[in-house]
Amino acid sequence: MYNAFFGFKENPFSLSPDPAFLYRSAQHEEALANLIYGVHSRKGFIVLTGEVGTGKTTMLECLRDFLEAQQIEFAFIFNSRINADQFLEMIAYDLDLRCNRTSKTEVLFALNQFLVQQANHGRTTALIVDEAHNLEWDVLEEIRLLGNLESPKTGKLIQTILAGQPELERKLDAPNLRQLKQRIILRYDLKPFREADTAEYISSRMAKAGVPEQDVFPAELLSEIHLRSQGIPRLINAMCDNALLTCFALETRVATLEILDEVCADMRLEWPGGNRQRGERPRRSGESYDPSAYQSRR
Ligand SMILES: Nc1ncnc2c1ncn2[C@@H]1O[C@H](COP(=O)(O)OP(=O)(O)O)[C@@H](O)[C@H]1O
Ligand SMILES: [Mg+2]
Repeated sequence: MYNAFFGFKENPFSLSPDPAFLYRSAQHEEALANLIYGVHSRKGFIVLTGEVGTGKTTMLECLRDFLEAQQIEFAFIFNSRINADQFLEMIAYDLDLRCNRTSKTEVLFALNQFLVQQANHGRTTALIVDEAHNLEWDVLEEIRLLGNLESPKTGKLIQTILAGQPELERKLDAPNLRQLKQRIILRYDLKPFREADTAEYISSRMAKAGVPEQDVFPAELLSEIHLRSQGIPRLINAMCDNALLTCFALETRVATLEILDEVCADMRLEWPGGNRQRGERPRRSGESYDPSAYQSRR
């Protein structure tokens, strides 16, 4: 809506996990390198955790691009509220297995054949599961069993990446998943951005959308956006998108604290110190606050 007004070619703050908008923060870079290394190493499970909105799905989408470019076969399960039969059916669909996809026996047989064939050609196969903290126990059990498949020459036949919210780690602590847990070779926990990253992230998204030198958000406001979003990319996107929309409605090209206040009120956003009167609010570096006090009611 506001794109033409600011000179954007496309929406800079869309909520979709689009690799074209990737901002390569040091930790996102490292997370992606870990995922890629994990797939290549053919040794076991890789776990990616992070709070809601920190960029897990975006990382998986980048991995998907990488696997496609390398012609590595993979199944990508993004809906984790499924039962074991549906899980195998989705794998069969993604890997295009020629069998009756609703028969567990047939799928397992065809899958094994497919994996061995790939391994014989020196190729590995990946299984990516997003929102894995929601998985049912029997699906996790299937994943554990698939992780057992290996060939003496090439190692594990399938490399599994499990991504999810921090409770995924706690789920994997269950006694019946001890074996799976022991075979996790890499784990990475995505943290929210630091302040410098938040500012660069915002500029980077606006540059990718067609405005290389953004001057909508002054430095003061970038600090405020960081404080209020706690460095969580999804909240930064929502905040900036709403702020741009308000600027457009007011026909102004520079966002102000008043605009941000309105946006945060609309988002029902709470942040440390945010409910105090203006002027008393702890601002910028040096003042500590309790991150657990922060929550979005969205
Ligand atoms: N490194 C990044 N570069 C660009 N956009 C990002 C990055 N990390 C997160 N985002 C954006 O933040 C939002 C939330 O990311 P997402 O991957 O869906 O988070 P999660 O899966 O952890 O909940 C998306 O709009 C995504 O585009
Ligand atoms: Mg996600």
